[in-house]
Amino acid sequence: MHLTLLPLLSLTSTTIATISRFPNPIETDVIPLHTLPTIFPPPITADAVSVEAIRQTLALYPFAIDGKNFAALSQVFTSDAVANYSAPLNVLSPLSDIQKTLSASLACVTTQHLYGTQLIDIVSPFSAQSVTYFQAAHFGTGNLAKEVATAHGQYQDVWARQRDGTWRIVHRNLVYMSEVLGNPMVFVC
Ligand SMILES: *[C@@H]1O[C@H](CO)[C@@H](O)[C@H](O)[C@H]1NC(C)=O
Repeated sequence: MHLTLLPLLSLTSTTIATISRFPNPIETDVIPLHTLPTIFPPPITADAVSVEAIRQTLALYPFAIDGKNFAALSQVFTSDAVANYSAPLNVLSPLSDIQKTLSASLACVTTQHLYGTQLIDIVSPFSAQSVTYFQAAHFGTGNLAKEVATAHGQYQDVWARQRDGTWRIVHRNLVYMSEVLGNPMVFVC
């Protein structure tokens, strides 16, 4: 659960290229809800540029999912990313498996993924962690066009800065905060 801070390095593009494959020091276990308010102390300063770059990248995830452009998830996740989407999807890896599984499981619905409370913690020049609350509405189609199943949860993401300077998710835990509410039949067609 402890976050290890890498010492601040004076960066050159060579250093970034070498260290971007550095083993990630951040814990990838699910962070319990009770621990979230104390694991990220209020920052005195923040790397606002990196925080915004991560926020902009995270915004592409709902666009990709809701737009059913699963190929575009390559802008959000590394190709070797690991994502624990919890039951029933469970652990998906690499990215091609995440894309295939999400595409298949959402085949019968259209969706709206809405972000809420969010914390983005830059841990080192190369690594970051974020927690984003979400609500995901899954709308039925055909006879079930007025039906919805809604999920409430969090994305707990670990980020690594890439050689080209962009940030990508290397590890995700999707943690549900309620049962999926509404009509589960929307997922069947
Ligand atoms: C996946 O996440 C769920 C909680 O959402 C947790 O219970 C489970 O142990 C995790 N699985 C792995 C392999 O980390």
